[in-house]
Amino acid sequence: MRVAEAIALRLTDAHIVLGVTGSIATYKAVGLASALVQAGATVDVIMTEAATRMVQPLSFQAITHRPVHVDMFAPWAETDIGHVTLGRQADLLLVAPATANTLAKLALGLADNLLTTTALAARCPVVVAPAMETAMWHHEATQKHVTTLRHRGVTIIEPEAGHLASGAQGVGRLADEKRILATAARLLTPQDLANRHVVVTAGGTREPIDPVRFVSNASSGRMGYALAEAAAQRGARVTLISSVTGLSTPFGVERVPVESAREMHAAVLQAVQEADVLLMAAAVADYRPANVATPEAQERR
Ligand SMILES: Cc1cc2nc3c(=O)[nH]c(=O)nc-3n(C[C@H](O)[C@H](O)[C@H](O)COP(=O)(O)O)c2cc1C
Repeated sequence: MRVAEAIALRLTDAHIVLGVTGSIATYKAVGLASALVQAGATVDVIMTEAATRMVQPLSFQAITHRPVHVDMFAPWAETDIGHVTLGRQADLLLVAPATANTLAKLALGLADNLLTTTALAARCPVVVAPAMETAMWHHEATQKHVTTLRHRGVTIIEPEAGHLASGAQGVGRLADEKRILATAARLLTPQDLANRHVVVTAGGTREPIDPVRFVSNASSGRMGYALAEAAAQRGARVTLISSVTGLSTPFGVERVPVESAREMHAAVLQAVQEADVLLMAAAVADYRPANVATPEAQERR
């Protein structure tokens, strides 16, 4: 999610500790930190030693405007941020990417670096987004650790399938940034719309003149998408009935694509049958051409 789309996702006043470990996906955590900051969160980054071999702490410092924490035994550490302080202060601990190594340490309750010590001291929700080669992810040891963490209430954002650093295709890629952000936002937001079905319309409809031309308007669709994203963040099941826009569907939202006002009308009537709320933010056309020209009709002229 980029600034233009981060309309509804609100993390203002949230204090997030972002734990970054030594994976080939470590660089993606820089983008993640940036998105969290843009959504309004205060982000404190803790890097493992291995993570600092992949990306310089300075990158995170420049983005979060806060010191990056690596060394639990730094001389100044206990006067400024104690080894358990960040864990106690955080509203959310997000470990992304999480290596197989850190995953194992978290499951076993080890505390041999600042990140794992912080995790043990944390009183807040913990989210872990693993990234590793397929064989490491499927290994019995890793899967047992994942199960242990889940039983302990940790939210695991499973890795996705696709191209891996080794060149192979398989499961192991760090989850998409949108998914990680939406999960973090949900854990930081009261779920007061849980078990509600919200239907939202968005965008300007297109009324065809012929197979290639249409009448439309300048609606961006952003209002409807923001409403849909906010409702999803608050726990609702969301159906977004949208005409063509350049916006990506918010994570966790079901999008029903339509083009004309008639199509939108039909889709709304269908969706509201089991909805609790209908939010109509679409810019529906006031007029439609009486006749839509077909190629055959044009040829006859
Ligand atoms: C180039 C490179 C990429 C790596 N990528 C991963 C990875 O994606 N996932 C993983 O679990 N380990 C990966 N490793 C291995 C970890 O860096 C290693 O297990 C390290 O001890 C992890 O330390 P940490 O968990 O404290 O960050 C990679 C190592 C190298 C050299």
